Amino acid sequence: MKIAVFSTCQYDEEFLSRFNTGHELSFFTVPLTGDTARLADGFDAICVFVNDSINAAVLNHLHENGLKLIVLRCAGFNNVDMATATRLGIPVLRVPAYSPEAVAEHAMALILTLNRKTHKAYNRVREGNFSLERLMGFNLHGRKIAVIGTGNIGAAFCRILTGFGCRISAHDLYPSAALKETGVHYGSLEDTLADADVVALHCPLTEQTNHLINAESLKLFKQGAMLINTSRGGLIDTKAVIEALKTGQLGALGLDVYEQEGKLFFHDRSEDVIQDDLITRLISFPNVLITSHQGFFTKEAMEEIARTTFGNLDAFAKGEALINRVK
Ligand code: NAI
Repeated sequence: MKIAVFSTCQYDEEFLSRFNTGHELSFFTVPLTGDTARLADGFDAICVFVNDSINAAVLNHLHENGLKLIVLRCAGFNNVDMATATRLGIPVLRVPAYSPEAVAEHAMALILTLNRKTHKAYNRVREGNFSLERLMGFNLHGRKIAVIGTGNIGAAFCRILTGFGCRISAHDLYPSAALKETGVHYGSLEDTLADADVVALHCPLTEQTNHLINAESLKLFKQGAMLINTSRGGLIDTKAVIEALKTGQLGALGLDVYEQEGKLFFHDRSEDVIQDDLITRLISFPNVLITSHQGFFTKEAMEEIARTTFGNLDAFAKGEALINRVK
């Protein structure tokens, strides 16, 4: 099949080329938007990532120009207008779980860094500053950690927390019996947030979870709690979180995703004047740590993404069952 691959970096080309099962790949570094959609005219399929915009206009255009299939190189599909894709009869296939541990381990890296301030210690020691002033953290052992969403990634995160001796309080529409057996306590969103020392978001972005963390829900947080988001930026009302950081209601914030990340993340913007005043404000806080959507970025995950993507393409090409179809 002829595949237009969008939003590619050098590492995407490397892994996709290595695992290619015989498809004709064209790599485009630009994201898929209304302006770039025509690049995929005449292709059988598009292969897209988290910040590509597969909206109704893009879908209608591509459908008129021969598009038969959409393959996502990710698990989340909030950037696809599923109603339009379904109406046009274009299947959307995803990589449901490439490495939950990769994202869960990154969430823990954010917590440990913010808590024990190793990023600051690294710089201090390099400059000959061996002072411990303002580097004090807290023991994770025995602390209450709130996990919102206990699917593949949330469950992997709970397993890590168990090893650290944390008390795990979780909220999910579908509580996991297996996690309950390991001591995870499920409750309402309100009960789960209350008294938690760390709140970690592992649910998808849906209409229901959009701005799940907002001015109201932040009031339920324990004073000075830490918030970690490795899921999707839209789960958090950024303005409300900035206010909570200013008052000290929120004690620390670790983000791997950001509501307006599309124009920034995955690119070197070090010579640009950043026009997004919210992210520049966030970066200015001493207790905020932002990484640019790298939770997934391990060798194992990249291999699994490539392997599953070609499995999806091959299944469609051969008319086999589409097990990873988004319903
Ligand atoms: P999953 O589908 O296995 O689990 C999601 C869980 O959230 C499910 O148990 C579901 O019942 C629950 N959920 C749905 N709506 C909810 C609500 N309103 N309240 C509470 N729980 C709710 O998904 P997985 O693989 O664990 O991924 C979670 C999210 O992580 C993805 O949607 C994606 O946005 C993000 N992600 C981020 C990556 C990164 O590199 N930072 C990489 C991969 C995924």
